[in-house]
Amino acid sequence: MRTPICDVLGIEFPIFAFSHCRDVVAAVSRAGGFGVLGALAFSPEQLELELKWVDENIDGKPYGVDVVMPASYVGKEQGDLQKIDLEKMIPQEIKKFLEELLEEYSVPPLPDDQERREGLLGWSESGGRALVDVAMKHPIKLIANALGPPPEDVIKRAHDEGLQVAALVGRVDQALKQKAQGVDIIIASGYEAGGHTGEITTMVLTPEVVDAVAPTPVLAAGGIGTGRQMAAAMALGAAGVWTGSIWLTTAESDYEAAMLEKLLAASSSDTVRSRSLSGKPARLLKTALTDAWERPGAPDPLSMPLQFLATSEASQRIGRAARSQDSRARELVGTPVGQIVGKMSHVRPAREVIYEMVEEYLETMDRLTRLLERSEEA
Ligand SMILES: Cc1cc2nc3c(=O)[nH]c(=O)nc-3n(C[C@H](O)[C@H](O)[C@H](O)COP(=O)(O)O)c2cc1C
Repeated sequence: MRTPICDVLGIEFPIFAFSHCRDVVAAVSRAGGFGVLGALAFSPEQLELELKWVDENIDGKPYGVDVVMPASYVGKEQGDLQKIDLEKMIPQEIKKFLEELLEEYSVPPLPDDQERREGLLGWSESGGRALVDVAMKHPIKLIANALGPPPEDVIKRAHDEGLQVAALVGRVDQALKQKAQGVDIIIASGYEAGGHTGEITTMVLTPEVVDAVAPTPVLAAGGIGTGRQMAAAMALGAAGVWTGSIWLTTAESDYEAAMLEKLLAASSSDTVRSRSLSGKPARLLKTALTDAWERPGAPDPLSMPLQFLATSEASQRIGRAARSQDSRARELVGTPVGQIVGKMSHVRPAREVIYEMVEEYLETMDRLTRLLERSEEA
C-alpha cells in the first residue's frame, strides 16, 4: 500500500485524516497515517495553541493543516472582510426565521457574560492567510485548501519552505485549475463526502481526475472509511485516501455526547446536501435544523460567508442548550458528515480505525489476487 506520496511525506500508510480535533490529528499520525488539522474554526491565536499541542504530542510524526480560502464569496473584492459591514447585509427575514425556530425548540438566548464566537473565523482569504502564517511557523509538511485554488503566493511560500500543497476539488475542470496553479496533490472529493461537496460521486470523479491531472497524485475522498473502500479508491488510480467523517466517532473526537449519539445511530440515508451551513452546498447530518431550512416558506440560505455569519450565534445557542439531557435543542444539533456515517456505529480509538483499514485493505487485495489466480488457472 506504500505509494510515492508516503515517501514524500514520510508516512507508513497513504491514509489522510482531516479533523478539527488535535487529538485525532496526533493519534492518526502516530499510527502511521497523516493527520491534517482543520484550522477554519480557530482564531490565529487559538490555532497557535492547537499546533503547539500537536507538536508536543505527535512524537515527531508528520502532519498538515487545512485552511479555507474560497475562490468566490461576497465581499472578496473589498479585500479584508473584517472591515466591511457584512452584518448589515443579513436580511431581517433570516433573523426572524432563526429566532422563531429557536423559540419553537425552546433554545434560550446566550447569557450576557458568554463569549460570542468571533464573526467570520477562517471563512475568507484574509482569514485563511492569517492561519497560514501561524501554520508555517510549525513543522507542518502539507497545507491543504478547500473551495478553490490557493493564491499563487501562498503556494510559492509553501514550496519555498519545502511543503506540499493539496487542494480539494469536486470536478475535473477544478482539478485542472488547481494543477495549473501549482498544487502538488489533488483531493478528488465525491458527492458522498461530509462537508462541502459537488455532485459527482467518488467512483466517477476519482478516475476522471486521475486521468486529467496525471502524473500529479490524487487522493480519493468521500465515502471512504474501510479497507475495502480504500482498495476501491486505489483501484481507481488514487495515490491514497483523504478521510473526514470516520474520525468524528473515534475515542479522541471532541464531540459532545448528544452529537456522538446521533452519529452512532445514523444510517447512510441520514445526511443531506444543504446550503444552510455556509451558503455553499455541504453534506450535513439530517436534523430538525436542516429540515427547517427546507420547509415551504423558509428563506433561501445566503451566500458565503453571510450564511455562516447569520447562523453563527444560533449554532452557539443550540450547542450550549443541547448539553442538557432533556433539551429540545438536541433535535437541532448537527454536523457536517458524509454517507459513511451509516458505518460509524461504535466508538474506536483512531489507531484501531487505521489498523482495521490497513488489515481489510490487505485482505481485499489478497482476495482479488486469488480471483486473478483462479482465472489464470481456468
Ligand atoms: C465535520 C467535517 C468538517 C469538515 N470541514 C472541512 C474544512 O473545514 N475544510 C476542508 O477542506 N474540508 C472539510 N471537510 C471535508 C473533509 O476534508 C473531507 O474531504 C471529507 O470529510 C471526505 O469525505 P468523508 O467525510 O466521506 O470521509 C469536513 C468534513 C467533515 C466531516
